[in-house]
Amino acid sequence: MDYYAVIGNPISHSLSPFIHHAFAKQTQQQLKYEAIQVVPEALFKMLSWLKEKKVRGINITLPLKRQAFQWVDKATQRARHAQAINMIKFLESGRSIGDNTDGVGFIRDLDRQFGFSLKNKKVLLLGAGGAAHGILPAILNEFPHGVTIWNRTESRARELVNQFSLQWSHAIDLRVDSNQSVQASHFDILINATSAGIKKEHLMLPAHLINPDVFCYDLSYGDAASPFLECAKKAHARACSDGLGMLVEQAAESFREWRGIQPDIQPVLEQLRKKLKI
Ligand code: ATR
Repeated sequence: MDYYAVIGNPISHSLSPFIHHAFAKQTQQQLKYEAIQVVPEALFKMLSWLKEKKVRGINITLPLKRQAFQWVDKATQRARHAQAINMIKFLESGRSIGDNTDGVGFIRDLDRQFGFSLKNKKVLLLGAGGAAHGILPAILNEFPHGVTIWNRTESRARELVNQFSLQWSHAIDLRVDSNQSVQASHFDILINATSAGIKKEHLMLPAHLINPDVFCYDLSYGDAASPFLECAKKAHARACSDGLGMLVEQAAESFREWRGIQPDIQPVLEQLRKKLKI
């Protein structure tokens, strides 16, 4: 039997064991996948222990993604861009490869649900924390017309833009928006990558940003995504989505890299929506 795990803190609500066992059943793979709570101080010790136990792969979730990037022997290009990993694959030699499948999960979900491509689009990314950081490389890779980062703390948005501008600013209008200029701008898609919903806090947004031309996507799901999506529906946004599809897509990409087989995400997503009643 091959063993896999997801590590994070908190972890008890993780849907990853459900998703990966569903993929395994669907593709007739023999594996066991567990959720393990790990605090940041214990991360490196736990990773070494899991490696010793010959675990085949690990998913990494909050708040360990950046720290785990420091541990792996090698990282894929997209993980190096994000400076954070959400999965590790162990090779036969024991070497660990870190990857980040969050961004590709987001891009695929947009395409699967809406046939929506970010190419030449005007993107407003709300937030400049870990979640924003994880998906920005994949967004830029799609060659949007521009990406504007709006964050409550402007200096953090500026740091994020500075990190990527050297490589991308020749091709893409990558900028920080201050509250004044966002007032006058128009976007094709708004992506909520803040943790306001999870923390049950209010997210202050200029009302005109959500209009019938704009797509609204929240990276979270369930109660955490509700305030932003309700606001989007009320303003008759062109389409709205939570991040459940992205969650299943990023898991499918991990599964494919570990097992060499692409699972069908649709039935698993439907099972999850039923289970969570969302
Ligand atoms: P995550 O890994 O979930 O992104 P994080 O790194 O702590 O968590 O980042 C949280 C993001 O949500 C930040 O961009 C944060 O803004 P600040 O940089 O100003 O803290 C944003 N955020 C959290 N609560 C918010 C709120 N109530 N309104 C607006 N933005 C909020």
